[in-house]
Amino acid sequence: MTKLAFTRPQLDYGDNIMRTVYVNGEYLPENEATISIFDRGFLMADGVYEVTSVLDGKLIDFEGHFVRLQRSLNELDMAEPISRDALLEVHRKLVADNSIVEGLVYLQITRGAPADRDFVFPSEDTPATIVLFTQNKPGLADSPAAKKGMKIISIEDVRWGRRDIKTVQLLYPSMGKMMAKKAGADDAWMVQDGHVTEGTSNNAYFIKGNAIVTRPTSNDILNGITRAAVLRFAAEAQMKVEERLFTIEEAQAADEAFITSASTFVMPVVEIDGVALGDGTPGPLAARLREIYLEESRKAAI
Ligand code: PDD
Repeated sequence: MTKLAFTRPQLDYGDNIMRTVYVNGEYLPENEATISIFDRGFLMADGVYEVTSVLDGKLIDFEGHFVRLQRSLNELDMAEPISRDALLEVHRKLVADNSIVEGLVYLQITRGAPADRDFVFPSEDTPATIVLFTQNKPGLADSPAAKKGMKIISIEDVRWGRRDIKTVQLLYPSMGKMMAKKAGADDAWMVQDGHVTEGTSNNAYFIKGNAIVTRPTSNDILNGITRAAVLRFAAEAQMKVEERLFTIEEAQAADEAFITSASTFVMPVVEIDGVALGDGTPGPLAARLREIYLEESRKAAI
């Protein structure tokens, strides 16, 4: 019988060797950062988040992420606990202190920690909890996955009805990624009433001829910051953009497909529910869009 070892396991920090993180105004080593067990983010998933990518040590689309954060807070009747300028400073300090050249900054704001568990929102003088940390991802832009392409499965979308708010309720997306993994795929696209909503943590697209098709924004999907940029660049590159509902079958019959998010940029999809798209390798238009996105984002990074 295997016995439990009582020695403390060696912590594997991977590329993230003892980060400096930010919690409620303080910069701390990650193993000294704590929040209350009564925090509503922990007890109720009562919080919002943003993930901003870093290329060349600079932030990609900080303004877009900040504006969406403001909107998420507002939709949940949460006050804005930190100004844009202060938040930018925290992002920049964490990127510098953790020597991030390529990677991500994760930001989470919760409704804070009242004195006890209660479904009713705490009084407005309960301070919000603000947490930020970096994720070091060397090679994020030159990702081998972008050359290989992703295999997607489809799953039913059973999330709540306000997916436009970037909340930390990520259990179902997490389960979706596990369903994909078990099926030998890389990710899942969610389907509601026969139409694709989005990926578990990304927006979903297919390309047929010269047209890019993606679901229009609504309460059903997250209004991706990468999505907005990519659709703008696609239109500038004379590609046709069709924002409309689409089915898995249409995407399977497409020339190409791809996903977008702050952590993957533009990532080609080569297979959907076991059906190969085109010749089963990443298509030229998705590759071109990825190039344009990276080039333009690097230019505009702050
Ligand atoms: N996810 N849709 C969902 C459900 C998402 O969770 C995300 C982002 C997106 C793409 O949004 P953007 O382009 O602004 O990153 C779409 C982040 C990256 C995450 O949860 O890690």
